[in-house]
Amino acid sequence: MFTAVAPPQETLPRDLVGAIQNLKKELNAVILAHYYQEAAIQDIADYLGDSLGLSQQAASTDADVIVFAGVHFMAETAKILNPHKLVLLPDLEAGCSLADSCPPREFTEFKQRHPDHLVISYINCTAEIKALSDIICTSSNAVKIVQQLPEDQKIIFAPDRNLGRYVMEQTGRQMVLWQGSCIVHETFSERRLLELKAKYPQAEIIAHPECGEAILRHADFIGSTTALLNYSNKSQGKEFIVGTEPGIIHQMEKLSPSKQFIPLPNNSNCDCNECPYMRLNTLEKLYWAMKRRSPEITLPEDTMAAALKPIQRMLAMS
Ligand code: 13P
Ligand code: SF4
Repeated sequence: MFTAVAPPQETLPRDLVGAIQNLKKELNAVILAHYYQEAAIQDIADYLGDSLGLSQQAASTDADVIVFAGVHFMAETAKILNPHKLVLLPDLEAGCSLADSCPPREFTEFKQRHPDHLVISYINCTAEIKALSDIICTSSNAVKIVQQLPEDQKIIFAPDRNLGRYVMEQTGRQMVLWQGSCIVHETFSERRLLELKAKYPQAEIIAHPECGEAILRHADFIGSTTALLNYSNKSQGKEFIVGTEPGIIHQMEKLSPSKQFIPLPNNSNCDCNECPYMRLNTLEKLYWAMKRRSPEITLPEDTMAAALKPIQRMLAMS
Protein backbone atom coordinates (compact mmCIF):
# COMPACT_ATOMS: atom_id res chain seq x y z
CA MET A 1 0.00 0.00 0.00
CA PHE A 2 1.28 3.40 -0.95
CA THR A 3 0.05 6.57 0.63
CA ALA A 4 -0.34 9.51 -1.73
CA VAL A 5 2.19 12.22 -0.93
CA ALA A 6 0.65 15.66 -0.78
CA PRO A 7 2.25 18.18 -3.16
CA PRO A 8 4.74 20.38 -1.33
CA GLN A 9 3.13 23.50 0.11
CA GLU A 10 4.92 26.79 -0.31
CA THR A 11 6.54 27.75 2.92
CA LEU A 12 7.49 31.13 4.23
CA PRO A 13 11.12 32.15 3.66
CA ARG A 14 13.25 32.19 6.80
CA ASP A 15 14.20 35.80 6.23
CA LEU A 16 10.74 37.20 5.66
CA VAL A 17 11.80 40.85 5.78
CA GLY A 18 14.67 40.20 3.34
CA ALA A 19 12.30 38.36 0.99
CA ILE A 20 9.84 41.29 1.08
CA GLN A 21 12.68 43.71 0.29
CA ASN A 22 13.69 41.55 -2.70
CA LEU A 23 10.10 41.39 -3.98
CA LYS A 24 9.86 45.14 -3.63
CA LYS A 25 12.78 45.58 -6.03
CA GLU A 26 11.52 42.88 -8.40
CA LEU A 27 8.05 44.45 -8.64
CA ASN A 28 9.18 48.08 -8.39
CA ALA A 29 6.69 48.27 -5.54
CA VAL A 30 6.10 50.75 -2.76
CA ILE A 31 4.68 49.69 0.63
CA LEU A 32 2.30 52.23 2.13
CA ALA A 33 1.16 51.55 5.69
CA HIS A 34 -1.24 53.13 8.17
CA TYR A 35 -0.23 53.67 11.81
CA TYR A 36 -2.81 51.09 12.92
CA GLN A 37 -0.88 48.23 11.30
CA GLU A 38 1.11 45.78 13.41
CA ALA A 39 4.59 47.01 14.36
CA ALA A 40 6.42 44.60 12.00
CA ILE A 41 4.54 46.07 9.02
CA GLN A 42 5.16 49.64 10.18
CA ASP A 43 8.88 48.87 10.37
CA ILE A 44 9.20 47.74 6.74
CA ALA A 45 6.93 50.36 5.17
CA ASP A 46 8.37 52.85 2.67
CA TYR A 47 5.84 55.36 3.88
CA LEU A 48 3.87 55.32 7.11
CA GLY A 49 1.14 57.85 7.71
CA ASP A 50 -2.43 58.90 8.28
CA SER A 51 -5.16 58.73 5.65
CA LEU A 52 -4.27 62.10 4.12
CA GLY A 53 -0.54 61.39 3.95
CA LEU A 54 -1.20 57.97 2.46
CA SER A 55 -3.42 59.37 -0.30
CA GLN A 56 -0.86 62.08 -1.06
CA GLN A 57 1.82 59.40 -1.36
CA ALA A 58 -0.44 57.25 -3.55
CA ALA A 59 -1.06 60.28 -5.79
CA SER A 60 2.65 60.97 -6.27
CA THR A 61 4.32 57.55 -6.38
CA ASP A 62 6.18 56.41 -9.47
CA ALA A 63 6.23 52.75 -8.35
CA ASP A 64 4.49 50.21 -10.61
CA VAL A 65 2.88 48.32 -7.74
CA ILE A 66 1.31 49.75 -4.58
CA VAL A 67 1.18 47.38 -1.62
CA PHE A 68 -1.35 48.89 0.72
CA ALA A 69 -1.04 47.88 4.35
CA GLY A 70 -4.26 49.40 5.58
CA VAL A 71 -7.95 48.80 5.03
CA HIS A 72 -10.02 48.37 1.89
CA PHE A 73 -11.20 51.98 1.46
CA MET A 74 -7.58 53.20 1.65
CA ALA A 75 -6.40 50.74 -1.00
CA GLU A 76 -9.42 51.71 -3.12
CA THR A 77 -8.37 55.36 -2.90
CA ALA A 78 -4.88 54.39 -4.08
CA LYS A 79 -6.42 52.47 -6.99
CA ILE A 80 -8.69 55.38 -7.95
CA LEU A 81 -5.63 57.63 -8.04
CA ASN A 82 -3.69 54.99 -10.05
CA PRO A 83 -6.22 53.12 -12.19
CA HIS A 84 -3.51 51.47 -14.32
CA LYS A 85 -1.33 50.27 -11.46
CA LEU A 86 -1.52 47.03 -9.53
CA VAL A 87 -2.76 47.79 -6.01
CA LEU A 88 -2.41 44.92 -3.54
CA LEU A 89 -4.15 44.60 -0.17
CA PRO A 90 -2.72 41.76 1.99
CA ASP A 91 -6.22 40.73 3.18
CA LEU A 92 -9.29 41.74 1.16
CA GLU A 93 -11.44 41.22 4.28
CA ALA A 94 -9.74 44.23 5.90
CA GLY A 95 -12.83 46.45 5.73
CA CYS A 96 -14.06 49.24 7.99
CA SER A 97 -17.16 49.49 10.19
CA LEU A 98 -17.48 53.18 9.35
CA ALA A 99 -17.43 52.56 5.60
CA ASP A 100 -19.96 49.72 6.10
CA SER A 101 -22.27 52.07 8.02
CA CYS A 102 -23.04 54.00 4.82
CA PRO A 103 -24.60 51.80 2.11
CA PRO A 104 -24.85 53.52 -1.34
CA ARG A 105 -28.62 52.95 -1.88
CA GLU A 106 -29.61 54.45 1.48
CA PHE A 107 -27.12 57.28 1.00
CA THR A 108 -28.57 58.11 -2.42
CA GLU A 109 -32.04 58.41 -0.81
CA PHE A 110 -30.56 60.54 1.99
CA LYS A 111 -29.00 62.88 -0.61
CA GLN A 112 -32.34 63.13 -2.42
CA ARG A 113 -33.96 64.36 0.80
CA HIS A 114 -31.41 67.23 0.91
CA PRO A 115 -31.19 68.27 -2.75
CA ASP A 116 -29.45 71.64 -2.35
CA HIS A 117 -26.64 70.30 -0.13
CA LEU A 118 -22.98 69.79 -1.00
CA VAL A 119 -21.73 66.35 0.05
CA ILE A 120 -18.49 66.14 2.02
CA SER A 121 -17.50 62.57 2.76
CA TYR A 122 -14.84 61.38 5.13
CA ILE A 123 -12.34 59.24 3.24
CA ASN A 124 -13.43 56.26 5.42
CA CYS A 125 -16.16 55.31 2.95
CA THR A 126 -16.49 53.02 -0.07
CA ALA A 127 -15.63 54.05 -3.63
CA GLU A 128 -19.39 54.12 -4.40
CA ILE A 129 -19.97 56.71 -1.65
CA LYS A 130 -16.99 58.73 -2.89
CA ALA A 131 -18.57 58.68 -6.35
CA LEU A 132 -21.74 60.19 -4.80
CA SER A 133 -19.76 62.95 -3.03
CA ASP A 134 -18.55 66.43 -3.97
CA ILE A 135 -15.46 66.61 -1.76
CA ILE A 136 -13.58 64.01 0.27
CA CYS A 137 -11.87 64.90 3.53
CA THR A 138 -9.79 63.18 6.19
CA SER A 139 -9.54 63.77 9.91
CA SER A 140 -6.57 66.08 9.33
CA ASN A 141 -8.18 68.41 6.79
CA ALA A 142 -11.96 68.24 7.47
CA VAL A 143 -12.07 71.54 9.41
CA LYS A 144 -9.89 73.31 6.83
CA ILE A 145 -12.05 72.10 3.94
CA VAL A 146 -15.35 73.14 5.54
CA GLN A 147 -13.87 76.56 6.36
CA GLN A 148 -13.12 77.13 2.66
CA LEU A 149 -16.79 76.79 1.65
CA PRO A 150 -19.15 79.79 1.37
CA GLU A 151 -20.99 80.49 4.63
CA ASP A 152 -24.42 79.91 3.10
CA GLN A 153 -23.46 76.59 1.50
CA LYS A 154 -25.61 73.78 2.92
CA ILE A 155 -23.58 70.66 3.67
CA ILE A 156 -24.17 66.95 4.17
CA PHE A 157 -21.30 65.35 6.10
CA ALA A 158 -20.90 61.56 5.89
CA PRO A 159 -20.39 58.95 7.18
CA ASP A 160 -18.86 59.69 10.62
CA ARG A 161 -21.21 61.49 12.97
CA ASN A 162 -18.45 62.03 15.56
CA LEU A 163 -16.03 63.71 13.17
CA GLY A 164 -19.00 65.63 11.73
CA ARG A 165 -20.03 66.93 15.16
CA TYR A 166 -16.42 67.88 15.94
CA VAL A 167 -16.14 69.80 12.64
CA MET A 168 -19.41 71.63 13.41
CA GLU A 169 -18.02 72.68 16.82
CA GLN A 170 -14.72 73.85 15.32
CA THR A 171 -16.24 75.79 12.42
CA GLY A 172 -19.54 76.95 13.96
CA ARG A 173 -21.29 75.57 10.85
CA GLN A 174 -24.45 73.50 10.82
CA MET A 175 -24.24 70.33 8.72
CA VAL A 176 -26.61 67.44 8.09
CA LEU A 177 -24.84 64.38 9.50
CA TRP A 178 -25.04 60.78 8.32
CA GLN A 179 -25.19 58.71 11.52
CA GLY A 180 -22.24 56.36 10.99
CA SER A 181 -19.44 55.59 13.42
CA CYS A 182 -16.28 53.56 13.98
CA ILE A 183 -16.61 50.56 16.30
CA VAL A 184 -13.12 51.12 17.70
CA HIS A 185 -13.39 54.81 18.56
CA GLU A 186 -17.02 54.85 19.60
CA THR A 187 -16.60 52.14 22.22
CA PHE A 188 -13.84 53.80 24.24
CA SER A 189 -15.02 53.99 27.82
CA GLU A 190 -15.38 57.32 29.62
CA ARG A 191 -15.41 55.49 32.96
CA ARG A 192 -12.11 53.74 32.19
CA LEU A 193 -10.71 57.08 31.01
CA LEU A 194 -11.55 58.69 34.36
CA GLU A 195 -9.99 55.73 36.21
CA LEU A 196 -6.79 56.17 34.17
CA LYS A 197 -6.78 59.91 34.79
CA ALA A 198 -7.02 59.25 38.55
CA LYS A 199 -4.10 56.80 38.29
CA TYR A 200 -1.98 59.10 36.10
CA PRO A 201 -3.06 62.61 37.14
CA GLN A 202 -0.24 64.28 35.14
CA ALA A 203 -1.13 62.45 31.91
CA GLU A 204 -2.37 64.42 28.93
CA ILE A 205 -5.41 62.98 27.18
CA ILE A 206 -5.01 62.93 23.40
CA ALA A 207 -7.82 61.66 21.19
CA HIS A 208 -8.90 61.13 17.60
CA PRO A 209 -12.02 63.04 16.43
CA GLU A 210 -13.72 59.71 15.59
CA CYS A 211 -14.19 59.28 19.38
CA GLY A 212 -17.58 59.97 20.95
CA GLU A 213 -18.39 63.32 22.56
CA ALA A 214 -17.98 61.93 26.10
CA ILE A 215 -14.32 61.12 25.42
CA LEU A 216 -13.49 64.25 23.42
CA ARG A 217 -14.85 66.44 26.24
CA HIS A 218 -11.91 65.29 28.41
CA ALA A 219 -9.24 65.61 25.72
CA ASP A 220 -6.31 68.03 26.03
CA PHE A 221 -5.59 67.59 22.34
CA ILE A 222 -7.72 66.28 19.44
CA GLY A 223 -6.32 65.38 16.03
CA SER A 224 -5.66 62.86 13.29
CA THR A 225 -3.18 60.06 13.96
CA THR A 226 -0.31 62.12 12.52
CA ALA A 227 -1.36 65.15 14.58
CA LEU A 228 -1.51 63.02 17.76
CA LEU A 229 1.95 61.63 17.03
CA ASN A 230 3.44 65.09 16.44
CA TYR A 231 1.72 66.52 19.51
CA SER A 232 2.99 63.77 21.81
CA ASN A 233 6.50 64.30 20.47
CA LYS A 234 6.54 68.08 20.93
CA SER A 235 4.66 68.28 24.23
CA GLN A 236 6.56 68.77 27.49
CA GLY A 237 4.26 66.12 29.02
CA LYS A 238 5.71 62.77 30.08
CA GLU A 239 2.55 60.61 30.13
CA PHE A 240 -0.25 60.38 27.58
CA ILE A 241 -3.58 58.57 27.60
CA VAL A 242 -4.08 57.69 23.95
CA GLY A 243 -7.66 57.75 22.60
CA THR A 244 -7.17 56.06 19.27
CA GLU A 245 -6.20 52.63 17.93
CA PRO A 246 -3.09 51.57 19.90
CA GLY A 247 -1.04 50.69 16.78
CA ILE A 248 0.08 54.34 16.75
CA ILE A 249 1.83 53.85 20.11
CA HIS A 250 4.66 51.98 18.33
CA GLN A 251 5.63 55.23 16.54
CA MET A 252 4.99 57.39 19.63
CA GLU A 253 7.42 55.25 21.62
CA LYS A 254 9.99 55.33 18.81
CA LEU A 255 9.83 59.12 18.56
CA SER A 256 9.69 59.75 22.33
CA PRO A 257 11.31 56.78 24.10
CA SER A 258 11.35 58.47 27.51
CA LYS A 259 7.60 59.11 27.55
CA GLN A 260 4.82 56.76 28.65
CA PHE A 261 1.81 56.04 26.43
CA ILE A 262 -1.26 54.48 27.98
CA PRO A 263 -3.87 53.04 25.58
CA LEU A 264 -7.47 53.91 26.33
CA PRO A 265 -9.55 50.75 26.84
CA ASN A 266 -13.09 50.17 25.64
CA ASN A 267 -16.13 49.15 27.66
CA SER A 268 -15.55 45.40 27.57
CA ASN A 269 -13.72 43.56 30.30
CA CYS A 270 -10.70 42.96 28.11
CA ASP A 271 -8.29 45.71 27.11
CA CYS A 272 -8.88 44.94 23.44
CA ASN A 273 -9.21 48.16 21.49
CA GLU A 274 -7.41 47.21 18.29
CA CYS A 275 -9.17 47.68 14.96
CA PRO A 276 -10.16 44.12 13.97
CA TYR A 277 -10.01 45.05 10.28
CA MET A 278 -6.61 46.73 10.29
CA ARG A 279 -5.17 43.81 12.23
CA LEU A 280 -6.21 41.28 9.57
CA ASN A 281 -3.10 42.30 7.65
CA THR A 282 0.06 40.52 8.79
CA LEU A 283 3.65 40.50 7.57
CA GLU A 284 3.07 36.96 6.25
CA LYS A 285 0.00 37.99 4.22
CA LEU A 286 1.89 41.00 2.90
CA TYR A 287 4.66 38.70 1.68
CA TRP A 288 2.19 36.33 -0.04
CA ALA A 289 0.35 39.22 -1.66
CA MET A 290 3.61 40.46 -3.20
CA LYS A 291 4.76 36.99 -4.18
CA ARG A 292 1.41 36.08 -5.80
CA ARG A 293 0.52 39.62 -6.96
CA SER A 294 -2.84 39.01 -5.39
CA PRO A 295 -5.28 39.91 -3.86
CA GLU A 296 -5.58 43.04 -5.93
CA ILE A 297 -8.07 45.89 -5.76
CA THR A 298 -10.33 46.18 -8.80
CA LEU A 299 -13.15 48.67 -9.32
CA PRO A 300 -15.55 49.50 -12.17
CA GLU A 301 -14.11 52.25 -14.38
CA ASP A 302 -17.13 54.53 -14.08
CA THR A 303 -17.00 54.35 -10.27
CA MET A 304 -13.29 55.18 -10.33
CA ALA A 305 -13.82 58.13 -12.67
CA ALA A 306 -16.65 59.55 -10.53
CA ALA A 307 -14.77 58.97 -7.25
CA LEU A 308 -11.58 60.60 -8.55
CA LYS A 309 -13.05 64.11 -8.81
CA PRO A 310 -13.91 64.58 -5.08
CA ILE A 311 -10.56 63.06 -4.08
CA GLN A 312 -8.71 65.49 -6.36
CA ARG A 313 -10.73 68.37 -4.87
CA MET A 314 -9.59 67.28 -1.42
CA LEU A 315 -5.94 67.11 -2.47
CA ALA A 316 -6.20 70.59 -3.99
CA MET A 317 -7.89 72.03 -0.87
CA SER A 318 -5.52 70.44 1.67
P1 13P B 1 -6.52 59.12 10.19
O1 13P B 1 -5.61 58.22 9.45
O2 13P B 1 -7.03 60.23 9.32
O3 13P B 1 -5.95 59.62 11.46
O4 13P B 1 -7.82 58.25 10.56
C1 13P B 1 -7.78 57.16 11.40
C2 13P B 1 -8.63 56.03 10.97
O5 13P B 1 -9.55 55.62 11.59
C3 13P B 1 -8.29 55.36 9.77
O6 13P B 1 -9.17 54.35 9.60
FE1 SF4 C 1 -12.54 51.83 10.19
FE2 SF4 C 1 -12.45 52.43 12.77
FE3 SF4 C 1 -10.87 50.55 11.85
FE4 SF4 C 1 -10.42 53.12 11.20
S1 SF4 C 1 -10.28 52.20 13.23
S2 SF4 C 1 -10.40 51.37 9.81
S3 SF4 C 1 -12.52 53.88 11.09
S4 SF4 C 1 -13.12 50.48 11.90
